[in-house]
Amino acid sequence: MKKTHALAGLVFSMTLLGAGLTNAFAADETLRSLAEKNNIYIGAILNSQWFSGGLPGNYEQIHKQQFNIVVAENEMKFDATEPQEGRFSYGNGDKMVKYAKANGMRVRGHALAWHSQVPNWVNNYRNDKQKLLKVLKNHIENVVGHWKGQVAEWDVVNEAISNNEPQWRTGSVWYQGIGPEFIDSAFVWTHAVDPDAELCYNDYNLEQGVNPKAKAGFLLQQVKRWVANGIPIHCVGSQTHVEDTTTDKHFIGSPDSLRSLAKELAKLNVKLKITELDIGFKSGVNVSKHDLERQGQTFRQYLDIILEEPNADTYLIWGVSDKWSWLGGLNRQKGLIYDDNLKPKPAFDSILVRLQTFEPPQDTSKKDTTVKDSTVKDSTAKDSTKDSSDAIRPFAMPSSISMHVAGRTLFVTGALSTKSTKIEVFDMQGRPIFSTENSKGVFDLSSISEGFYVVRVKSGMSNLIQRIAIK
Ligand code: G3I
Repeated sequence: MKKTHALAGLVFSMTLLGAGLTNAFAADETLRSLAEKNNIYIGAILNSQWFSGGLPGNYEQIHKQQFNIVVAENEMKFDATEPQEGRFSYGNGDKMVKYAKANGMRVRGHALAWHSQVPNWVNNYRNDKQKLLKVLKNHIENVVGHWKGQVAEWDVVNEAISNNEPQWRTGSVWYQGIGPEFIDSAFVWTHAVDPDAELCYNDYNLEQGVNPKAKAGFLLQQVKRWVANGIPIHCVGSQTHVEDTTTDKHFIGSPDSLRSLAKELAKLNVKLKITELDIGFKSGVNVSKHDLERQGQTFRQYLDIILEEPNADTYLIWGVSDKWSWLGGLNRQKGLIYDDNLKPKPAFDSILVRLQTFEPPQDTSKKDTTVKDSTVKDSTAKDSTKDSSDAIRPFAMPSSISMHVAGRTLFVTGALSTKSTKIEVFDMQGRPIFSTENSKGVFDLSSISEGFYVVRVKSGMSNLIQRIAIK
């Protein structure tokens, strides 16, 4: 772990933040600290409103506390960075890069060659192949050059495949004006400017199977060709904008299908990243507590791919809070892990618990070899895999409360709130199974069957999470 990470972690844990399971005294683990122990990146976009200072302070606090990779919702796109021909605008992107640096985060660049959010002056060259080639090359050289060494990975090409049938998206200005070779060229130009950056092809609906009739199947054929031809492609970004299974009758995507894609890419030495995850419900439907718990399980299933597949390293969510989500435009709602009030949803808990309970394979070097950036290679990660005690992981600072189980009774001791202490019990998949509260800190667990569980305790400002065994 880089010093900046460790320092930032300490600063955050010393700060009182109302975010999820974290607080000042217990120095609880965050999604970020657990992701780093598992050698993966976890992130969320910085919403466009953040750039204009239009978001409440706790948005940013949560963001930097919980995530270690960041991408701009709109601010590094073509129309934002080159609004007029040859006149580049880097102010917002620079702001994010500075923020990432200050908080020890990795930066994704999104996106260089995309048909959408392209300014009109580009579209005007739709019929001029030579000019468009120059425009795209010049854009890449300037933008990638500007952030060379600071943007660790780029979506070089975004959404170039048609949505309706497995073929190129022929309506794209780049495809129409240049032909499919714009893709190969964009990768080569980007690599020439920043040979250390990881270069991705990014698209949606890739969780719908790898057969030749599906988008991912078509993409796989192209990746094979690119690799065979020496085109510098290192990763496929699966946007993974999906809808909750019960409200979308046409839902055909699944975590298993995305996992198949990861396995196919591994054969080509190409990574899979989840780059824009959201799991929405249809707008207008009532979303119950049970629905939100099921949604949490789907978040967890996609996380499992990133944890378990050696060539998968990134889990990035397209937003922080449901309040500032683009999903309304897609007739969907509530697709993120924090609610409108920036309170963590069951999906947050599922992710957190899964990150805590994940047992890395014995051969941990497998994951290490695929994580390119050394910032997440933390010497403590190795120690944590050897820890066989019931505590999931030792805390960085001593907690002001502690818990232990004797028989079927859970005791919480330490500086308890005089009002109430609450416990929540999750199974190892992060599903909530039991919760209760009282002021004494003694809890009867006799209704819970034998097995391993994760318990979260909240008492006043203190939080504690620990794995327990019920015998
Ligand atoms: O910049 C203008 C602003 O000047 C104007 O006042 C305002 C009025 O509505 O619109 C602003 O532009 C909006 C822009 O976001 C910035 O906020 C556009 O109308 C709006 O269409 C645009 O939406 C973005 C969308 O991409 C455009 O395709 C979403 O915020 C953004 O979340 C979304 O992100 C994409 C990824 O890049 C690629 N994958 C799919 C994903 C979701 O569509």
